[in-house]
Order: sequence, then C-alpha cells, then structure tokens
Amino acid sequence: RTSRWQVECRHDIDTFTPGFLAMYESLKPSEEHKTKQQQLVDSLTKSVSKEWPDARLHLYGSSANSFGTSHSDVDVCLEMEIGTESTVEILLKLADVLRTDSFDNVEAITGARVPIVRMSDPESGFSCDICINNLLAVANTKLLKDYAQIDQRLLQLAFLVKHWAKLRGVNETYRGTLSSYAYVLMCIHFLQLREPKSLPCLQAMEHTYTMNVHGTECAYFDKVHQLQDFGAENKESIAELLWAFFHYWAFHHNYKRDVISVRIGNTISRKQKNWTARIGNDRHLMCIEDPFETDHDLGRGVDRQTIRILREEFERAATMLQYDDDPCVTLFEPYDYEN
Ligand code: GTP
Ligand code: MG
Repeated sequence: RTSRWQVECRHDIDTFTPGFLAMYESLKPSEEHKTKQQQLVDSLTKSVSKEWPDARLHLYGSSANSFGTSHSDVDVCLEMEIGTESTVEILLKLADVLRTDSFDNVEAITGARVPIVRMSDPESGFSCDICINNLLAVANTKLLKDYAQIDQRLLQLAFLVKHWAKLRGVNETYRGTLSSYAYVLMCIHFLQLREPKSLPCLQAMEHTYTMNVHGTECAYFDKVHQLQDFGAENKESIAELLWAFFHYWAFHHNYKRDVISVRIGNTISRKQKNWTARIGNDRHLMCIEDPFETDHDLGRGVDRQTIRILREEFERAATMLQYDDDPCVTLFEPYDYEN
C-alpha cells in the first residue's frame, strides 16, 4: 500500500542515483579530516585539564553524530562540577586559558540560549564551539548517530539535504531558517513515515538506553545492530527519496496543523502541544519537536517571511528533481543574494 503522494515521481528518476551517491561520497569527511579533528580534541583536553583536572570532554553535533561533512565545525561539551561559579564565569576563564595556549579568535558568546566559547584551531583551521554541561546535546547526538546506523539512506539523504540547505541559504537560524540539526530530524521523520518504513521510532521501542539530564529522561532502544534489516523492504533509491523528501515538505506536510515528532514517529497536532499561537519569541509556524526536550520547538525562529522562503525552496527542489535534465547540478546552484 502506498499513499497517493508517493507515486507521482518521474519514471527515469533512478538514472540520477549514481550522481547523487558520488556527491554523497565527496561530502563525507576524509581520514585526514578525522585525524586533524582528533588532534584538536587532544590539544583541547590538555589545555582544559590544567585548570579543571576532573572535566570530561564530549564531542557532540556533527563531529560525533556521523552527519558531519568536511565543512562542519567541531562541537565540544565540557562536563564538570561547577560549584558556586556560574557557567558564564567558567566560560570567561576558559576563554583566557585558550588564549594563553594560543588558540585563535577566542571569543566567549555568553548571551546565547546555550552560552559557548568559540575559537579556531591554528593547526587545522577548524572552528570549534565549546559549551559547558549541555548533556542534552550529547544525548541527542547519540540518538542521531544510532539512527544513522539503521539504514544508510538516512546519511545519504541528510548529507545531500544539508549541502542543499547551505548552498540555498536556508541553513541560517539567525536569519529565521533552520539548523542542521532540524534538517536531520526532518530526514528521520520523513523516513519513519515511508511505506514500507525505512526507519523505526526508537523512542517508542523498549528502552535499552536511559540518561537523565537535569530531570529530562532521554530513553530509547539503542541496540541498533539488531535493526540492520529494518528498512530492507523499502526499495526506494536515494534519487527517489530525495525527490519525495522535497515533495513532502513542499506539498504534503500540513504546516498549519501538525508538529513533526521523531519521538513518536509521526506528526502530532499543534493543538495537542499547545503550540497554536505565538509564545514570546516562539512563533510556531513550522513546528519541529526536539526528541528529548519536548517543549522545545526547533522551528521557533521561522517567521512569516522565512516560512514562505523555505516552502518555495522545497518546491523549487522538488520541481527540479521532477523535470530538469541535470538536477544533480541545478538543485545545488547557490542562491544569488544579489537578485
Ligand atoms: P553542522 O555543524 O552544520 O555540520 O551540523 P551540526 O549537527 O553540528 O549542527 P549545529 O552545529 O547546528 O548543532 C550542533 C548540535 O547542537 C546538534 O547536533 C545538536 O546536538 C545540538 N543542537 C543544535 N541546535 C539545537 C537546539 O535548538 N536544541 C537542542 N536541544 N540541541 C541543539
Ligand atoms: Mg556543528
């Protein structure tokens, strides 16, 4: 049984699969990239342990969730007991330590939702964000990594979508579009909804992994090696899925009614979540529920103008995949801000 919106794809779509797979391969980080990243982590560990010998260093975000490209930054979380000092005081001290150890462009960004120190590594040139005790991000990093091991088409799809979003200028949260993390959740959600399914809903299965972060329970089935064949019945190629992905967000998803929920493996209504009106700065025009912090809407920065831009971009992409002679090229043409 396939629903109506799954059957309208052009008949020669598969001729583009080799091109998209080649592109995916070229986006994957090289061994050299991974080595440099490890060297950065080692020198950072050395600097931090001088001042905070008990601190634990976790990689999170795309450097650890397997969705990182050669262009991704390195996200690091320090886990430590902070006693009477505030996170901001620690970050300012950390910035001093890093400057002394000759990291470049060290800057404490303390006004953000998650305060960080940002710096760049003179050896590799990588940009690096460091936060303190943000263990929810460490937990969602593991969740994404585990999803990626179930069906390789998730990684392929997400790499292409992230690459597209960067080039089209719709991966900029400070401008009202979406984070990379939000795009990966959209990919997981989409693959959970395919018929037959390509991905399960790990949080709805037996909880083999649990981590409690300041009262928020992060629990799901993490024995993903047992799910290697989960998506086998779904035979869709990456070209087909990429088209269906954009088609879904352009024409099928009900933005006014629904919230995207990877946690339940389906949509939930905005009414049910009480996300029907603007609450403070959260406009809730495109609702993406964080899998663990369930009152957190990852689309909160999307406004009336940017939701229109996003939907036009989804439509543009779907149309190109449907009709262009060379969608592997046209899909990724950089957005021209001048015109
Ligand atoms: P690239 O750096 O673009 O390759 O992707 P990324 O996955 O590292 O994304 P980004 O740098 O935007 O975010 C890094 C990590 O922070 C994500 O993977 C999440 O774990 C976490 N994160 C980002 N935004 C949010 C958010 O709004 N809420 C929560 N809970 N976590 C977030
Ligand atoms: Mg990152």
